[in-house]
Amino acid sequence: MTESASTTPASRAFPTDFVWGAATSSFQIEGASDADGKSESIWDRFCATPGTIIDGTDGTRACDHYNRVADDVALMVDLGLTAYRFSIAWPRVVPGGTGEVNAAGLDFYDRLVDELLAAGITPYPTLYHWDLPQVLQDQGGWTNRATAEAFADYAAATVRRLGDRVTRWTTVNEPYVIANLGYLTGEHAPGHRDLDEALAASHHVLLAHGMALRAIKEIEPSHEVGVVINFTPVTPVGDSPFARERQQIVNEFENRWYSDPIAGRGYPAFATERLGWDQAEVLPGDLDLIAQPVDFFGINFYTRKFVAAIDGERGDRGDETAMGWEIHPPALGDLLRFLDDEYDFPKLLITENGAAMPDTERDADGRVADHDRIAYLRGHLEQVAGAIEQGVPIEGYFAWSLLDNFEWAWGYGPKFGIVEVDPDSLERRPKRSALWYADLIRSGSLPT
Ligand code: NOJ
Repeated sequence: MTESASTTPASRAFPTDFVWGAATSSFQIEGASDADGKSESIWDRFCATPGTIIDGTDGTRACDHYNRVADDVALMVDLGLTAYRFSIAWPRVVPGGTGEVNAAGLDFYDRLVDELLAAGITPYPTLYHWDLPQVLQDQGGWTNRATAEAFADYAAATVRRLGDRVTRWTTVNEPYVIANLGYLTGEHAPGHRDLDEALAASHHVLLAHGMALRAIKEIEPSHEVGVVINFTPVTPVGDSPFARERQQIVNEFENRWYSDPIAGRGYPAFATERLGWDQAEVLPGDLDLIAQPVDFFGINFYTRKFVAAIDGERGDRGDETAMGWEIHPPALGDLLRFLDDEYDFPKLLITENGAAMPDTERDADGRVADHDRIAYLRGHLEQVAGAIEQGVPIEGYFAWSLLDNFEWAWGYGPKFGIVEVDPDSLERRPKRSALWYADLIRSGSLPT
């Protein structure tokens, strides 16, 4: 991923059929962690392990979305969303990880889908957003090839139940994070720290995507199936060969490791060699499964990162969000053009973009006056508009997140929502950014 000069968008109007959404995930908002036959997930277990979550919280209650579906869909209607990206919790649907399907777990998503469709909102479910059934972790989790096979069965069961109404499926969310935060840095569930495990997990998660895609297409050939990859473009500090080499390895390990195999190119050579990965897990036929054509390619984008020849050397960084992530919207425009030039995906979808902000300032009426979040969204949407203008096929945009929610190892501290959730009463209240977004959706054009 190289950086080109940022471009100023010629137009701020979006196509009339542009998909305007917001995104969430099951563990981050649902709560009801043992309702209706749901089994323990790796995140339930991880949160219960002392020292894993900064504020010691968990997902037991979260936003209680499980019991507030109708209200939350009404909220989406107020905002004028045309699409909603959510995830389905595998431990609700197949509590044993494999085998019997729990109809009561699927009932919940059935209801959600019906509510969405009645409101004219297109559902974009993701089948895996990190809440693996703990019972599968006990057998190795993503280091075990059998987990990929189990995932395809769970995906098929879900599609059989919801596929008469849902027609767009996303397999896995952010394989990089699943493999490397889960099995290499240990920041996420299951909290392991082992490079060999992480490499095996990265392959099995991609394989799970491929096996699920095949299973879905067998049941519903006309449905659209995609994957969600997170990209953090890498910028070298200075121009030394060493910094450039670091840029290449980090970019290959964190970004291209996922997009290249999906595009049919296998794993990037430089990083593979440097890491000494023998690819023993990659069996004949695996790369073909992973490279089956996707109908859309989902992108989660938040920030870029610098790499330096000397540790601690810092690049020329812009302002930061409350996560300490640099705000640099041109990197999104560059990324979209790069993906369009480099690969052959039929269309791109921005499946997540957003920011945690301090949310300390309020309007006279008490509403969060999140000028900083509005500026973030506007800056990135300008880049999207610019890329569309240049011919990049971008189907839509999902703001992360609809609600303030459980930010994984950070707990409930970071506020990513365009809608505020009171931590005690759980009452929802749209922030100024949500109203700004609603105006944008209504007009279809970025306000100048
Ligand atoms: C991407 C993840 O998919 C989501 O779960 C997370 O909350 C956001 N990044 C923000 O970190």
